[in-house]
Amino acid sequence: MSNSFKICVFISGTGSNLDSIIKKQSLYNYEVVLVVSNKADAKGLDYAKKANIPIYTFKWDKKDTDLTLVQHQIKQHQCDLIVLAGFMRILPEGFINAFENKIINIHPSLLPKYKGLHTHQQVIENKDQTHGASVHFVNAELDGGKIISQSVINVENNDTVESLAKRLLFREHSLLPHTIALIGQNRVQWQTNTLYFDHNKLTNPIIIND
Ligand code: GAR
Repeated sequence: MSNSFKICVFISGTGSNLDSIIKKQSLYNYEVVLVVSNKADAKGLDYAKKANIPIYTFKWDKKDTDLTLVQHQIKQHQCDLIVLAGFMRILPEGFINAFENKIINIHPSLLPKYKGLHTHQQVIENKDQTHGASVHFVNAELDGGKIISQSVINVENNDTVESLAKRLLFREHSLLPHTIALIGQNRVQWQTNTLYFDHNKLTNPIIIND
């Protein structure tokens, strides 16, 4: 697997997205070489342990927590891409700049709608007919980087925050590994400051409704 696309996954909690990323490694020919968490007791770390993937945890005690040691770990493991999969902290600008266009995040809304927290609640309050998840590149603006892909679901009259979260998480488990694969296969590519998909400028998100 030494020639495979190497990724590092950041988590803060349950880690169901990490689980799906790990399960789809051979299908999509990428390799999770490092799992990072700001919580030493994050439940999701069990998935990394079971798969014998190195883990690095650190304490996030203030807004500008020093991530030099995290950066060192990422470089040592020669990661091609950093994937934020339920990582609930805002990374410092210095860290983002150190890995320009090499960090992606999954967010439970159809960005640019509903940046930040409580996305399912807002969908219900606003009586939206559709909801979804987005995978985007991370820049200094919260949930504001270029959107790569989205998965879209219909909102039913009887949906609750819980039912939406559950249905969307199921979609996230396909959307994120599939998007990692598109980047690993160079089908999604930055050229100067423009994002391309299969050599065409990416003007709208790639819809992945698997
Ligand atoms: C996922 O729904 C993910 O989209 C969301 O947290 C959940 C993590 O679930 N991320 C964010 O809200 C980031 N702003 P998981 O730990 O089971 O993968």
